Amino acid sequence: MAEKVKEKIKEKSRVISQEKIAGDVYSMWLDSEQITEHAKPGQFISVFSRDGSRLLPRPISICEVNKEKKALRIVYRVVGKGTDEFSGLGEGDQIEIMGPLGNGFPLDRMEEGRKAFLIGGGIGIPPMVQLAKELKGEKQAIVGYRDELFLTGELNTYAEVYIATEDGSAGTKGNVLDAIKENGLTADVIYACGPTPMLRALKSYAEENGIECWLSLEERMACGIGACLACVCQSKELDEHSQVHNKRICKDGPVFLSTEIDL
Ligand SMILES: Cc1cc2nc3c(=O)[nH]c(=O)nc-3n(C[C@H](O)[C@H](O)[C@H](O)COP(=O)(O)OP(=O)(O)OC[C@H]3O[C@@H](n4cnc5c(N)ncnc54)[C@H](O)[C@@H]3O)c2cc1C
Ligand code: FES
Repeated sequence: MAEKVKEKIKEKSRVISQEKIAGDVYSMWLDSEQITEHAKPGQFISVFSRDGSRLLPRPISICEVNKEKKALRIVYRVVGKGTDEFSGLGEGDQIEIMGPLGNGFPLDRMEEGRKAFLIGGGIGIPPMVQLAKELKGEKQAIVGYRDELFLTGELNTYAEVYIATEDGSAGTKGNVLDAIKENGLTADVIYACGPTPMLRALKSYAEENGIECWLSLEERMACGIGACLACVCQSKELDEHSQVHNKRICKDGPVFLSTEIDL
């Protein structure tokens, strides 16, 4: 069952399956007639709590879509009450979702012969799976973890995978830039999602090396549809409507060209 909310689709979805894939990280497949149909890599959904005291939905990236099965996957870390509630859902439970939200990663930047880095840090890794599936050309996925790995198998199906871990338990000891340097990797386009310090370092790296770089920001949000201005970031250009140097991450993003934003 679906209704349109300000051109976004709000669906009553059912949980197809849910499993714990690392410490506090869960993977959930949801049935979704319409959001799945329109979803693009890098977009997200708003997941509503069933507890009336938590009115604001939680934004979670689309990790994978299966159009034939009309199903979408989210992978999330339990950090508070909303995500804790979601982790308790099981097969057949109903949950309200809205989406697909945001702009997503541009897929048309990979002209003949161009190479891409798909960079994910921690819970910024999930959107890289659908991106790796849909992006054409040579793809190198560089993924950074604190310790325990997740989603490396899925990424490995579509891209060459390089791992960095803070504790050195797998791959390069250090961060994603250390893995790039250690393996002598190069690219023409960067697509990245992860914690702000990682995105800031990638923005400098890309600009110093003249690499086109698309960053997905995961700011705290409220409405998720561009109405409340809870999620603005500093932009280089003046916003057409408000005439200030701000962009709404939920509507104008979450993906921005690194040179368009200040981090
Ligand atoms: C576009 C977008 C995509 C996202 N995709 C994913 C995803 O694929 N997987 C995933 O696990 N998480 C993702 N997040 C973050 C996720 O929305 C939050 O972790 C979630 O809303 C927390 O809800 P909660 O009720 O469990 O925690 P709350 O009780 O709301 O917060 C618990 C703690 O988490 C911090 N927190 C809450 N939201 C954020 C945020 N957006 N960024 C950083 N810290 C936050 C709070 O400051 C607090 O310390 C995404 C966020 C955005 C904006
Ligand atoms: S969360 Fe309301 S404008 Fe972005």
